[in-house]
Amino acid sequence: MTYQSVLDADPQRPPPALRAVSAPWTPGPDIAVDRYTSRKFARLEHERLWKNSWQMACRAEHLPTVGDHLLYEVGDLSLIVVRSGPDTIKAFHNSCLHRGTTLVEGRGNAALFKCPFHGFAWSLDGTFRGMPAAWDFPHVEAGSMQLPEVAVAQWQGFVFVHPGTDPEPFERYAAPLPDHFAQHPLDGRYVAHHACQVVAANWKAVMEAFLEGYHLSTTHPHTIRFANDFETQYDLFGPNVSRLMQAIGIPTSALIGRVPPDEIARTIQKMVPSADRRDVPEDVDVRAFLGDVFRTSYARRWRMDLTDASEAELLDSIQYFLFPNFAPWMGYSLPITYRFRPWGDDPGHSLMEIMLLHPVPADGSFETAAEHWLEPGESWTHAPGFEALGLVIDQDMENLPRVQKGLRAASHRAVVLADYQESRIRHFHARLDQQLGLDG
Ligand code: FES
Ligand SMILES: [Fe+2]
Repeated sequence: MTYQSVLDADPQRPPPALRAVSAPWTPGPDIAVDRYTSRKFARLEHERLWKNSWQMACRAEHLPTVGDHLLYEVGDLSLIVVRSGPDTIKAFHNSCLHRGTTLVEGRGNAALFKCPFHGFAWSLDGTFRGMPAAWDFPHVEAGSMQLPEVAVAQWQGFVFVHPGTDPEPFERYAAPLPDHFAQHPLDGRYVAHHACQVVAANWKAVMEAFLEGYHLSTTHPHTIRFANDFETQYDLFGPNVSRLMQAIGIPTSALIGRVPPDEIARTIQKMVPSADRRDVPEDVDVRAFLGDVFRTSYARRWRMDLTDASEAELLDSIQYFLFPNFAPWMGYSLPITYRFRPWGDDPGHSLMEIMLLHPVPADGSFETAAEHWLEPGESWTHAPGFEALGLVIDQDMENLPRVQKGLRAASHRAVVLADYQESRIRHFHARLDQQLGLDG
């Protein structure tokens, strides 16, 4: 069985992008342990990765009104992301050109950026507006005082920033994401729930725990009665994008024919409100049945037409990844977006975030969720909207501090990866090597 053979049997045709298979064989070097533990490596990442790559800063909906601004921060980098005009979002280094003070702390709305120290001021588009006692700065030309700006791109409702000097155009960088998501757009979504947590593990170790389905049978053993784990499809698209697709409603291969289909249908039906659940027929075709239940339930919930939504989009785990740290899912039942960042300059801690992007209801009304900060180690089930998903995330989170501790304790020098099921992790590290100038 392959994921594609599951799609062959589904009643409703999925978007063509889900028919793409791109899995070049990628045997590669093992991954050096010190990439996860060394301060020197973290510093290299800071200089060559975070200061020089496209990163998702926020959703456009986070900045609805002109003057709304927030900070995107990673390591020492602090960028002001601001709606500078009705249709324009800009980003600037958050550092006063006088003596360096941050111009902004946190988020808010402002008509201009005025430094709290001596009062140098800039317009929302970065134009210098002057300083007190300008007679004392005869050597400073107003023209040289434009606030240093960084590149911004908007894609499917997300705002990306690139602090480097010569960014590749976003659409080209992100290919084939724009083509794939044109078939299943996320710009008609909003952040219904948003949770964050500082995790005691390197940002790459945390991220990699979410890039493969290989760990399901051991870390999430309850899921293999309805998730086809080892037949997950992994795709590598170009340098910056990868994907996994896992069929839901089909158990792990060893249990096919051994888990009664009606048990699977009943278990997965619990994802929709009880009023939307149906009696499960004895000879149920699980994916067709669940597809129909979900289609009806989500259409009612979000007041949208889902007649053409495929079983794949309604049920499956379809997760894309864009280098270096952004993972948007495609679909309705798991409308997840991940973002992973280092926490300060500590290679042993990171920040993990999940946004749940729900479709904007037909009447256009929605409220963007504020970030819910979980304490380190706190259960994800405590975050609003994560009551069910949180149980699974908690299982992942239990591993991660142990991964980091074990990596620090390692006598071996390298992490050994599976050729196929962990190919996305290899792909990521090859790209990271290139970014860091370690590939020559
Ligand atoms: S440091 Fe900003 S005005 Fe002096
Ligand atoms: Fe997991």
